[in-house]
Amino acid sequence: MKIAILTGASAGLGKEYFYNLINRSDIDCIWLIARRKDRLEQLAASTDKPCVILPLDLTDDKSFEILKEKLSEQKPEIKILINNAGFGKLGNVDQLSVTDQTDMVRLNCAALTAVTTVCLQFMKKGSFIVNVCSIASFAPNPRMTVYSSTKAYVLSFSKSLRQEVKKRGINVLATCPGPMNTEFLSVANITGNSKTFDILPYCDPKKVAAHSLKQAEKGRAIHTPKLFYKFYRILAKLLPHSFIMKLSKT
Ligand SMILES: NC(=O)c1ccc[n+]([C@@H]2O[C@H](COP(=O)([O-])OP(=O)(O)OC[C@H]3O[C@@H](n4cnc5c(N)ncnc54)[C@H](OP(=O)(O)O)[C@@H]3O)[C@@H](O)[C@H]2O)c1
Repeated sequence: MKIAILTGASAGLGKEYFYNLINRSDIDCIWLIARRKDRLEQLAASTDKPCVILPLDLTDDKSFEILKEKLSEQKPEIKILINNAGFGKLGNVDQLSVTDQTDMVRLNCAALTAVTTVCLQFMKKGSFIVNVCSIASFAPNPRMTVYSSTKAYVLSFSKSLRQEVKKRGINVLATCPGPMNTEFLSVANITGNSKTFDILPYCDPKKVAAHSLKQAEKGRAIHTPKLFYKFYRILAKLLPHSFIMKLSKT
């Protein structure tokens, strides 16, 4: 049985990945992961494509054991892994709670690493991983210091892992979108509180999902939607981050 595993399936960009996956003939079943079980059930009920619902909190290490056990029992072939679950928080480090900050690291970095490690042994030649990163990975973002640091980890992890699994015929892509109008903005307390987010161009989650899947399948390493953010990525490579941070402060 060929499956796709999607984390953060219950909202925003995750839902758009789900709508792409249900139309794929090379996938027999989709495994959906997020905390809100009712949302996952609604998605599963909306399609004829078989789905497995895994209502897991990925900040809890037990979730990785549950996923590992389920994979060991069923022994599917994972064709596509999409590590999409993630959240951010706006605010200086000394203004945010310890829990918010450590949970960001747990979900955005540790869970992505753990899910990938557990899944890799079930992946074969021709399969691919999409890691949802962000433009925040290109340079540090004051007022989103922890979030941008977690996404820098995701970018570095994705590039390095890609080299490791190339010989197995597996591709790893990091997709680096700019702001998208999803629950992310209210979860992060960004709505109405960030001039930067008010002026930046927004990315369409539908396009981000569809294009990143296409790019991953083509064997690409990084997907940056919109010319504006491609240009920002180059600037962040060329200019000192002490300068870039004047622009990237959220
Ligand atoms: N929106 C943006 O501006 C933006 C820009 C660049 C990158 N991104 C990245 O895009 C990805 C998707 O975000 P989004 O914009 O679609 O935000 P979203 O609408 O808030 O969706 C986040 C998803 O992550 C899941 N999630 C959150 N905490 C979880 C946990 N502890 N365990 C398991 N699942 C959890 C949520 O499901 P439950 O709440 O049901 O658990 C939800 O399905 C994230 O990695 C984010 O960093 C977003």
